[in-house]
Amino acid sequence: MNTRSVVIGCGHYLPSRIVENSEFEATLDTNDEWIRSRSGIERRHFAAEGETTSQMATAAARAALDDAGLGADDVDAIILATSTPDLTFPSAATMVQAQLGMTKGFAFDVQAVCAGFVFALANANALILSGQATRVLVIGAETFSRIMDWTDRSTCVLFGDGAGAVLLEAQSGEGTAQDRGILSTDLNSDGRHRDLLYVDGGTSTGTVGYLRMQGNQVFRHAVGKLAATATTAMERAGVTPEDVDWVVPHQANIRIIQGTANKLNLPMSQVVVTVQDHGNTSAASIPLALSVGRDRGQIKQGDLLVTEAIGGGLAWGAVVLRW
Ligand code: UT7
Repeated sequence: MNTRSVVIGCGHYLPSRIVENSEFEATLDTNDEWIRSRSGIERRHFAAEGETTSQMATAAARAALDDAGLGADDVDAIILATSTPDLTFPSAATMVQAQLGMTKGFAFDVQAVCAGFVFALANANALILSGQATRVLVIGAETFSRIMDWTDRSTCVLFGDGAGAVLLEAQSGEGTAQDRGILSTDLNSDGRHRDLLYVDGGTSTGTVGYLRMQGNQVFRHAVGKLAATATTAMERAGVTPEDVDWVVPHQANIRIIQGTANKLNLPMSQVVVTVQDHGNTSAASIPLALSVGRDRGQIKQGDLLVTEAIGGGLAWGAVVLRW
């Protein structure tokens, strides 16, 4: 018998304000055609004034708990992947803990930018497999609209806000790839690429800062590294692309998503795509895609999923799981 971290609930939250590409045409030298053709993005959601990452994360977490039919005190730990916490500290995860009314357990943030949810899933899995937790809420939540330079057309049209969450539970499996739950993980980072994607603020400047990205340079790394990490994770899980039902990629750019699927030999009909409606929501994009993909009827219990993501750091990774 093997312990497996099985998804027993999922949910998401998107702020109500939807901004279409055309809205940027009034203030920037850009247009809907450029944004759509270069990135696949058509619209994104932006948080309301005063709406924070922890509030959106709490809404997504509540939806995941409701989906599982459980309450906050049934959970041992909260791991929140975010690069846009409400404050430098305490962690946004502890704010979610308080907002959920959870009076026991522990909570912390994981910061691996767009790869954050994959890193958080791997950490949650490690806690479960080592017996330190039985149920872990894993959340990705971001308000990237707060770190946009609205005069920089090469970045501000690409990102959006939102949150998604899954609830993992320790269950026993047979130790085969037929088990439900997380079957393998693969994490990577390479700090030499820091200048490709970063925020120019923090304790070194005393400001919050703005996101800066050399998009075409990040693009050059993306497809190869994503296909490699997904392949490594599949090998570790003992599965091949033919076994996979759905790729649930980080939603940064439809061309990266297509290029990676192509390299993995998987058709786009087996890829969950939400980038057109959400833009790039960084660590929130994979749990949003999982929840939306499930609601659309794409992802069903028993399906074999590969998630993969890359972002600032650079940091990248993949998780193979059976839903
Ligand atoms: O999620 C974290 C990881 N991030 C990513 O994965 C993002 C990866 N990168 C990308 O998605 C793409 O590189 C972008 C969508 C950011 C850009 O697409 P690209 O095909 O790499 O374009 P580019 O950066 O090479 O820019 C092409 C042209 C430039 O003009 P010139 O120099 O050719 O005259 C840009 O100035 O497009 C121009 N441009 C724009 N034009 C209209 C840049 N942004 C815009 C814009 N509207 N918003």
